[in-house]
Amino acid sequence: MLQANRGTVKASLNFNATTDAEALYKAMKGLGTDEAAILQLLVARSNVQRQQIKAAYKTLFGKDLVDDLKSELTGKFETLIVSLMTPPLAYDVALLRNAIKGAGTNEKVLVEVLASRTPQQVKDIVTAYRQEYDAVLEEDIAGDTSGHFKRLLVILLQVTLLSSILVSSAVLFSILALFKAGEQKFGTDEQSFVTILGNRSAEHLRKVFDAYMKLAGFEMEESIKRETSGSLKDLLLAVVKCARSVPAYFAETVYYAMKGAGTDDDTLIRVMVSRSEVDMLDIRTEFRRMFACSMFSMIKGDTGGDYRKTLLLLCGGDDA
Ligand SMILES: *[C@@H]1O[C@H](CO)[C@@H](O)[C@H](O)[C@H]1NC(C)=O
Ligand SMILES: *[C@@H]1O[C@H](CO)[C@@H](O)[C@H](O)[C@H]1NC(C)=O
Repeated sequence: MLQANRGTVKASLNFNATTDAEALYKAMKGLGTDEAAILQLLVARSNVQRQQIKAAYKTLFGKDLVDDLKSELTGKFETLIVSLMTPPLAYDVALLRNAIKGAGTNEKVLVEVLASRTPQQVKDIVTAYRQEYDAVLEEDIAGDTSGHFKRLLVILLQVTLLSSILVSSAVLFSILALFKAGEQKFGTDEQSFVTILGNRSAEHLRKVFDAYMKLAGFEMEESIKRETSGSLKDLLLAVVKCARSVPAYFAETVYYAMKGAGTDDDTLIRVMVSRSEVDMLDIRTEFRRMFACSMFSMIKGDTGGDYRKTLLLLCGGDDA
């Protein structure tokens, strides 16, 4: 199935990888670095084109473009530019690896990536993870997490693509199981609840939620907030939100990354990079609908320098 590109970053039409590689070389050569030239060029190219520039750079100068960028740039701006240079699949795989292998487990990253990616993307991530690290993602995640949080993460990794007939016939059963598990004996049997929410068909889940609302008299999210806590609660809410609307989920993620004192730059970079060629336009629309300001104006007020310039270009415009 072909998804319409709702991203803000598009392939450049008059593209010449050699010319771009030369321009980047020039921007980094000698004393001082032309950050503005680097960010403007890279944001105006698709990720596929950036890989072609990297290859041309290697051919022309015998050096790795990403290594050179790393040695010329610093801080959040460096992280953002290096993220933009990474192919999307490799980016997701590295995010998960760092989330597990770093000091402590970054549960936020596990939740965001596994709840929001499509079944095919999850499948590709599992394969690429094995190739890259000679390890099984499911085992690494299971080794680093526990309880129902672990169970649901593992279920999210076990991709199931459902036919629509299967979906509709499963709905009634699911509501009854949810009702039973969620409302009557949730404390003793979270398993069926977790299994149903782990189902990766968003269409299936939306039907379940609608029916749940009619039967129970309140939203799925309310039950989750009432009955669970900690990482499990975050993960269940992320799954429910992504089933309802992935762009709305990311709009909220971006908003809370900037709201209040201090900005969660890692989250901001992750979302702005990974959605720039996917659904940034929809995320902006959802952001404007849910919050009192536009995404553009919030980024403008919360960040600075070349880092801000790059983020604003990825955002791609203001929605007054
Ligand atoms: C790209 O530009 C170089 C010069 O910068 C030129 O030699 C080459 O033919 C161009 N390639 C294409 C495909 O236009
Ligand atoms: C998703 O739902 C279908 C139909 O109810 C079921 O066969 C399948 O096992 C479920 N998948 C998961 C991961 O729970």
